[in-house]
Amino acid sequence: MAFAAPRRPSPPFAAAVLAMINPEDLAKHYTRFRVTERILLTGHSHQAWPDVAFEAQEQAWLDAAQYVDDVWEKAFEKANEVRRGFARLLDDTPERIALAQNTHELVVRFLSALPLRKRPTLVTTDAEFHTIRRQLDRLAEEGIEVIKVPAMPAATLAERLAISVDDRTAAVLVSAVLYTNAHIVPNLRVVQEACERVGAELLVDAYHALNVVPFSLKKEGLERAYVVGGGYKYCQLGPGNAFLRFPADCALRPVITGWFSEFTDLSQAPMPGRVGYGPGPRAQPTSNRDSVGCLEERCNWWISGDPGAAGWEDSKSPTQEEHLDRLSRRDVAAGSGAIRHGCATRRRHGSSRARASGPKLG
Ligand SMILES: Cc1ncc(COP(=O)(O)O)c(C=O)c1O
Repeated sequence: MAFAAPRRPSPPFAAAVLAMINPEDLAKHYTRFRVTERILLTGHSHQAWPDVAFEAQEQAWLDAAQYVDDVWEKAFEKANEVRRGFARLLDDTPERIALAQNTHELVVRFLSALPLRKRPTLVTTDAEFHTIRRQLDRLAEEGIEVIKVPAMPAATLAERLAISVDDRTAAVLVSAVLYTNAHIVPNLRVVQEACERVGAELLVDAYHALNVVPFSLKKEGLERAYVVGGGYKYCQLGPGNAFLRFPADCALRPVITGWFSEFTDLSQAPMPGRVGYGPGPRAQPTSNRDSVGCLEERCNWWISGDPGAAGWEDSKSPTQEEHLDRLSRRDVAAGSGAIRHGCATRRRHGSSRARASGPKLG
């Protein structure tokens, strides 16, 4: 089979890049990955991490050894630096960034706060990273209705997700950039708007976008969205640095919670008869500090509020057919024709095939 020759950067472009980045200067910051001795071409998580990432992890341990029981102040200080960094990448404010070790932990907390008895449907795509994909597949086995919209073409994904949302939808979970093929998912604001119309939540997995494509929540119209991401990929922070960004008036109360949140306000904790949540992420680590990683301060991202009317009375889950009927009726009404029975069904089959051929790791 003949392959097209790779396109070389034009000389002026290459010269401009070299003028900006001197490889030798850069290599000095990556000594532990021995970048002068070997070529690392992986473009994602397992690329070279800078020495400073190692030093930060090491410093966490050293701080614990030095400050012992007084380490909290230091830890919060570091956690705030991390929040500021993630907030900058999202064009957002650090007060709305909560930290945890991985996005799965935060996605699970998010899911645990949804009124799934009253709204038993989750809408997602067939190209989500394993964090969301596997967890939702497992929830589907337990009777949660998971609608997987085909991710391709990414150019129209947002619109197709939007028309899949209805008043039984608890949340939409979608990536900002597809990890499978790096396609950017444009126009996610229409999903946000659809969610707002029916009172559903939107969670955007921005891991594959973070620090590699611009992702301003303001410009994207996603200030009402929940966003997960982390430092393991294009931020080169090393492991244990994930975040969940939550909207200003977040009132969700996760069922999966740690113990530290209620200590935010010692005068109120613990309240009899009701589990309390602190007022913001900064002072709300969910559990005790891990021994590794000053960047991995584990924080609760929830602010206090009511869980909403998650009554048992409306817990009957519609069958797949019923849901597809609803979708198809709406499609006809809206004239979009974007999602048909066959699409969702085919996608389900498609995802099994994908698993059989082995997962793509991020
Ligand atoms: C799109 C996406 N989401 C999430 C993750 C990581 O998930 P977790 O933090 O649960 O390991 C990755 C890769 O590491 C990813 O590519």
